[in-house]
Amino acid sequence: MCSSFPVGAQAADAARPQPTVSPNDDAAAVDLAAYDAVADALLARMTLAEKIGQMTQAELTSLGDLTDIAELSLGSVLCGGSSDPAAGNSVTAWADAYDACQQAALNSRLQVPLLFGIDAMHGHSNVLGAVIFPHNVGLGCTRDPQLIEEIGRATALEVRATGINWTFAPCVTVPQDDRWGRTYEGFSENPAVCGELGAALIRGLQGARLDDPRHVLACAKHFVGDGGTTAAPPAKPDDPRTVALDQGDTRVDEATLRRVHLAPYRPAIAAGVGSVMVSYSSWNGLKCTANRYLLTDVLKGELAFEGLVISDYNAIAQTDEDFRTAIGKSINAGIDMAMEPNRYRKFITLLTDLVEAGEVPEARIDDAVRRILRVKAALGLLGPDPNVTADRTLIESSFGSPAHRQLARRAVRKSLVLLKNDGDLLPLGGGAGRILVTGSGADDLGMQCGGWTIDWQGARGEVTPGGTTILASLQQALGAERIVHAADGRAANGDDIQAAIVVAGEPPYAEGNGDDADLKLTEQDLRAIRDLHAAGVPTALVLLSGRPLVLDDAASDADAIVAAWLPGTEGAGVVDVLAGAHAPTGQLSFSWPRSVDQHPLNEGDEDYAPLYPLGHGLTYGK
Ligand code: GLC
Repeated sequence: MCSSFPVGAQAADAARPQPTVSPNDDAAAVDLAAYDAVADALLARMTLAEKIGQMTQAELTSLGDLTDIAELSLGSVLCGGSSDPAAGNSVTAWADAYDACQQAALNSRLQVPLLFGIDAMHGHSNVLGAVIFPHNVGLGCTRDPQLIEEIGRATALEVRATGINWTFAPCVTVPQDDRWGRTYEGFSENPAVCGELGAALIRGLQGARLDDPRHVLACAKHFVGDGGTTAAPPAKPDDPRTVALDQGDTRVDEATLRRVHLAPYRPAIAAGVGSVMVSYSSWNGLKCTANRYLLTDVLKGELAFEGLVISDYNAIAQTDEDFRTAIGKSINAGIDMAMEPNRYRKFITLLTDLVEAGEVPEARIDDAVRRILRVKAALGLLGPDPNVTADRTLIESSFGSPAHRQLARRAVRKSLVLLKNDGDLLPLGGGAGRILVTGSGADDLGMQCGGWTIDWQGARGEVTPGGTTILASLQQALGAERIVHAADGRAANGDDIQAAIVVAGEPPYAEGNGDDADLKLTEQDLRAIRDLHAAGVPTALVLLSGRPLVLDDAASDADAIVAAWLPGTEGAGVVDVLAGAHAPTGQLSFSWPRSVDQHPLNEGDEDYAPLYPLGHGLTYGK
């Protein structure tokens, strides 16, 4: 069933679709408590050092010759945003790195394999040649849980081609202020949409059995309220464009925290998610990482979450200026695994000291390790024949495959939202006149993909092989002879120009680097739109952005406007709609502001007056 957004003011309540995965849904795929016997048997054999080692996650690039893995009985290794194997960023280099790490883990006394984690959040997005799917901001506009589940399955296969068995996705954040640099990691401002699509992605990633080598462990993040922080004064006082939201303070009452930010975790847990990552942010001044009420009473108690709870990257140290104190606070609050990329030895030493001093009960350690071992048992890592080597047949059959590119292209089509179409300018397929294509994003794969692509912050230009830009796809679809590409929009007045397409938007960014106070288009793109309008050229504006942008005069100057979000490598999916092979069906999952001063702007606000409301989306011929 697709949840739908009835368009129009009366949609306020109806637009809050109920998640299709109800909290008591018996389709919950993975019952982790079923593995307690296996977990407890291994736990009973562990020394304190081995238990604390299992609670520790280190960064691959900090591990050197990998001997620390066995020596410390490390439970997990991760590759953060820009971390790649020493041998480079090819799919085989990643598979080699995974196999080497797992073999190192089998050298430990109890031979406990690793959880190897990575941010495969829109495809296997660290690895060259992987299919990069649309970011969640676009997927939220598809209203299609089945499609999202298929994307999860495809992503799991591409991740498993490198052996890796854990992705730090889905992000089930509910962004309330689009000036936040992580807005695009959220499906919607609407908690029900986030819960429904987050649960769908979990089902796709994890499958019905986690020991199925074609699936991976998922991770719902960031618990809780990461998208509800209050804008603070500029983080960089000398830069008026900045506003600090990322890792900030969510100042709301508990009812609001539950209604908006906690809500998506119920369907996520019902879908059997095996891990939850805790948010850097605070709730009313207390860091979530050190909030025992949220992590233990609510998440593990009330919501009965039976998987493992992991801290974010170096987040434990943010809970107190003294690292030993910070560790004690966080582990006692309910952190089971510590993402300590570089200070993993220090973490192990200090936590051991805390347990021996009686400041962290060994029962808390046992609870943490039981949860970690449950997940490893569910993944088939604790059996007689553990699944610890990459299945390299997937490199040929799945990694970057044509089938996955077609799936991504379909997702791109379904994520596009037609905001305006005066004079039915779109689709552009008909006519013989030439089409001017211009704008900062017209021929830029990196802008299509956004942040968390190959590098943490992403980059402009041809960031990865195998994709299609919007320009190249237009040349393919309409004939290269009809396309005039002008990077700066200057060729505005050619008399044989039938129409123009301006592809504008945001350069790639991730996390706090994307906190932005004004959300405007670049002056160059605005000038191109203005000049084309002044020249009387019918113009379609296509937006590549991680959130709704403030359009100012462009909203009236452009005859048609399409939100393409961050579509990823398959730019051809954008052209499928622009050229008319497919009609647009997307509907906004974020309210579109008239002015940045309206932020935070969300459906249900008293003075709700967006340029385009949640659920808005036109199609052709209506
Ligand atoms: C980052 C992010 C988190 C990510 C982790 C590992 O700082 O907050 O979403 O999964 O570190 O890269």
